[in-house]
Amino acid sequence: MDDGIDAEPTTARRGRGPRGTGRQPKETNMGFYDNHVVPRLVNVSCGLSSLEHLRRSACSGLHGRVVEIGFGSGLNIPFYPGTVDSVAAVEPADLGWKLAQSRLATATVPIERSGLDEQSLPFPDDHFDSALSTWTMCTIPDVGAALLELRRVLKPGGTLHFVEHGLAPDENVQRWQRRLEPIQKTIAGGCHLTREIPDLVRDAGFEIDDLDTFYEKGVPKVLGALSLGVTAP
Ligand SMILES: C[S@@+](CC[C@H](N)C(=O)[O-])C[C@H]1O[C@@H](n2cnc3c(N)ncnc32)[C@H](O)[C@@H]1O
Repeated sequence: MDDGIDAEPTTARRGRGPRGTGRQPKETNMGFYDNHVVPRLVNVSCGLSSLEHLRRSACSGLHGRVVEIGFGSGLNIPFYPGTVDSVAAVEPADLGWKLAQSRLATATVPIERSGLDEQSLPFPDDHFDSALSTWTMCTIPDVGAALLELRRVLKPGGTLHFVEHGLAPDENVQRWQRRLEPIQKTIAGGCHLTREIPDLVRDAGFEIDDLDTFYEKGVPKVLGALSLGVTAP
């Protein structure tokens, strides 16, 4: 698919409000374990059928040209609505993309692996109609830079749809999240337990139109404090 996208990250950034950070990402998470083991763990743990209703909700309303960050093994593919024209997948793990192949074969829209690192995207400004992030903002090292990149590549009026886990509302759960976070980061590809997702989204200059925060049933609370939302057009 020719999406008019440069192969190399763009350095041209038109200034408009907080769009475009001009910052260079400091690190990515990818080492041997993250490339060869984590994508399989993610494919199984994030692929639980009990999470499908959340994927369906997050994907609802996506339209036109979509960028999906942390595409993983393509677990959202079955839930893209018919209003989606194409998807640019941003995913650093080769194995994630490989594990996505059977789902990609069933996709009804063109999906191209178009970027490797959300912190620095190879797309022009104002390129996408919608963006999707599911269980990804916990993992990106400089999530603030990544969200500013998303703002830059979304058209004015474009919306970010997300479902993410993060800091729980209850102090006793937060204490456990702080205790367990170093282990979680080590075994789960840099996954943080204590990120305040709605605040991070707002800090990047998005206004959140629709937000639901809750503990997902059947998921341990340290991992199950979810934010499901869509930013304002
Ligand atoms: C917990 S997984 C979620 C995967 C997928 N979004 C899902 O819902 O199943 C987090 C994903 O973020 C990806 N990731 C890590 N660092 C990233 C970065 N800098 N840019 C884009 N994606 C990244 C990982 O490779 C992984 O696929």
